[in-house]
Amino acid sequence: MNVLLIGSGGREHALAWRLAQSPGCTKLFAAPGNPGIAEHADLVLLDVADHAAVLDFCREQAIGLVVIGPEAPLVDGLADSLRADGVPVFGPGKAAAQLEGSKGFTKDLCASARIPTAGYVRVTDRAEALARLNAFPLPVVIKADGLAAGKGVTVAMSRDEAERAIGEIFDGGGEAVIEEFMDGEEVSLFVLTDGTALMPFGTAQDHKRVGDGDTGPNTGGMGAYSPAPVLTPALEQRAIDEIVAPTVAAMATAGTPFSGVLYAGLMLTADGPKLIEYNARFGDPECQVLMMRYRGDLLALLLAVAEGRLGEQPAPDFSGDTALTVVMAAHGYPGAPDKGGTIGGIARAEATGARVFQAGTALQDGALVASGGRVLAITAVATTIAAAQQAAYAAVAQIDFPSGFNRSDIGWREVARQAE
Ligand code: AMP
Ligand code: GLY
Repeated sequence: MNVLLIGSGGREHALAWRLAQSPGCTKLFAAPGNPGIAEHADLVLLDVADHAAVLDFCREQAIGLVVIGPEAPLVDGLADSLRADGVPVFGPGKAAAQLEGSKGFTKDLCASARIPTAGYVRVTDRAEALARLNAFPLPVVIKADGLAAGKGVTVAMSRDEAERAIGEIFDGGGEAVIEEFMDGEEVSLFVLTDGTALMPFGTAQDHKRVGDGDTGPNTGGMGAYSPAPVLTPALEQRAIDEIVAPTVAAMATAGTPFSGVLYAGLMLTADGPKLIEYNARFGDPECQVLMMRYRGDLLALLLAVAEGRLGEQPAPDFSGDTALTVVMAAHGYPGAPDKGGTIGGIARAEATGARVFQAGTALQDGALVASGGRVLAITAVATTIAAAQQAAYAAVAQIDFPSGFNRSDIGWREVARQAE
């Protein structure tokens, strides 16, 4: 079968690498892809906002499955346009992608389905926001509604900071959610669903802050590891029963079933797991560590999700090892990154046994250069997290990327716990 993968990040490089290994994958295309993805797929220049053009391509190339990696085309309804024409798609339609696209939508769904999450109010103008703010103790969380690539959230330690965050949101003419602060450790749970059946698909912990020791501004993710033992099997079951299953059921009841991967960002509080947010896609860089551990036939599994046959599938085959990935970003990230910096040493890094997934890279006169914020995800697998961390950093040391930087402590919480 021919497959079309939409996206160009490290997540899509990891998906392309695994899809290309599936026996049923005849030809893999990626739009737009990147130089790393090009090792596994034919890159095609398609405007993914032009649904008719994507459909034409699918017909011309007899595409049997479209896998949508990033959130923007999901929220834009690309999956609906393709499904309406009979093309199987991995990824939710526009209505279901609101679980990621609108924080207000998700909070309202949690309230009506009694899903544990932070208390909140939705506000639509500055005066209302400032008035409602008083009812919340500090710290308080202020979120812009809509997609913000991890950057639309302020955990305000003072009223001043909260009022400034509210000011910035409404200067842009937006909507906001004010939330109660939840204390605990964060963990990510991935669940495949075809709208009815559920299949837990691994856990991970991400490092969202740009600096060592979880300091500095939020990013899309500077590193991750999987599995995340802090989400014990009992807590995972609780999160599925109390959070994910009622969400999938509510979406189906509303006539907008969610089909794809539901990525639940959870806070492990003293009262149990609570939902921080949903994403309607795999995490980046969490996908890189999941794909390093997944040993099954990815194409067959994603196709089963797309065709509503997930309930017939056996439990997914993951290695019991730990995978850890270190993101190398261009200086300036998460602000405006330096572009054009040269990248070398990928072959040397992979010779150590690690895998280098590419994100913001481009070829310039035959040389690999940085073209975005997050540039590489250096990923290793080992029997313990400490060994995986050591292996990933040994591979990072082989990379020659003078205009880049990385955190030096990915996995620190779990490494410390395992050393106890
Ligand atoms: P989000 O974009 O909703 O994932 O929020 C980004 C980050 O802000 C999360 O990963 C958390 O670290 C933090 N955060 C969001 N909401 C809360 C909350 N209610 N309580 C504590 N931290 C939060
Ligand atoms: N790494 C966080 C995300 O993909 O949203």
